[in-house]
Amino acid sequence: MTGADRHASDAFDPAGTVARARQAAADAGSLEALGELRGVLLGKRGELVRAQRALGGVAPEERRRLGEQINSARAEVEEVLAARQGQLRAEERARRLAEERLDLTEVVDVPRRGRVHVVERTRRQLEDVFVGMGFAVVEGPEVEDDWHNFEALNMPIAHPARGMWDTLYLELGPPESVVLRTHTSPVQIRLMQRERPPVYAVMPGRCYRRDTPDARHIPIFHQIEGLVVDKGISFSDLAGTIETFTGAYFGTDIHSRLRPSFFPFTEPSAEYEITCTICRGAGCRTCSQTGWIELGGCGMVDPAVFAAVGVDPEEWTGFAFGFGIDRCAQMRHQLPDMRVLLENDVRVLEQL
Ligand code: PHE
Repeated sequence: MTGADRHASDAFDPAGTVARARQAAADAGSLEALGELRGVLLGKRGELVRAQRALGGVAPEERRRLGEQINSARAEVEEVLAARQGQLRAEERARRLAEERLDLTEVVDVPRRGRVHVVERTRRQLEDVFVGMGFAVVEGPEVEDDWHNFEALNMPIAHPARGMWDTLYLELGPPESVVLRTHTSPVQIRLMQRERPPVYAVMPGRCYRRDTPDARHIPIFHQIEGLVVDKGISFSDLAGTIETFTGAYFGTDIHSRLRPSFFPFTEPSAEYEITCTICRGAGCRTCSQTGWIELGGCGMVDPAVFAAVGVDPEEWTGFAFGFGIDRCAQMRHQLPDMRVLLENDVRVLEQL
């Protein structure tokens, strides 16, 4: 064994080689630099190859041990390089993503997200409750003719009961022939003209009255009409439906009551009231100290209405109801004054 060979093999220090490789890899700041480093470490002039070459001059018993050391050092260096390569690739990718990101917003301040208005949400919830009870949902026009809004509902021209609705007329056709519907009841008429019984439907929509706004009234409001026509329908079906609805929508601690009333298109007729949710029945300004809030009217469909749409009242009976959707929202959210529903004050809307 020559002195030079001895020197080469003695000089090979596997731990040192790996440590230096590790440091150099960490220092390599790019994939390119790492590629160059790989050439240096594993290439012809690298310590590993040099040590490998020197093996020929090493004594056989020594060669085996040294060979194993070189191989495992190379494997370690490969591993170090691969790990650093993975790291650099991830960094590179993140940088590209950040650089090439497309800004698709046109404004600097992202506008705050809006949401469905509480009245619209209430309409959907009411529909859900009734759909769950087997009702279909039907809609009709907001601009109505006199016949559907009044006459077919058993209120001939000049009938005093028309005074129950402070009507807004449109300047269209003969005077007072076209109205902004004062209630959703004309949709009952349209539905029965179109479809033969049995009918189980609710009809939500916007209504208009020349009312002075107060805590419980707004001139543009919403109703949900209900109509059931079938064989053998009785007043107890009406009462049961209303009771079921009240519990399902307001919760079982809110009660309903029906008080005798009058509507030209139902006989008998009733007013539908629920416990005032604001004072829980104790009496407050909103319920005029009565503890009850009127949600709407109801009753058994008058035979004159059936006659107007050609349904045989000997064969079919039915009930109808009409509730204020805004009133339901007011009671569900315990709003002392309904006018906030129109004011669109975000401080209020955000809470609903
Ligand atoms: N349409 C009536 C109103 O607006 C309510 C109602 C509907 C009453 C159906 C009876 C039956 O006051």
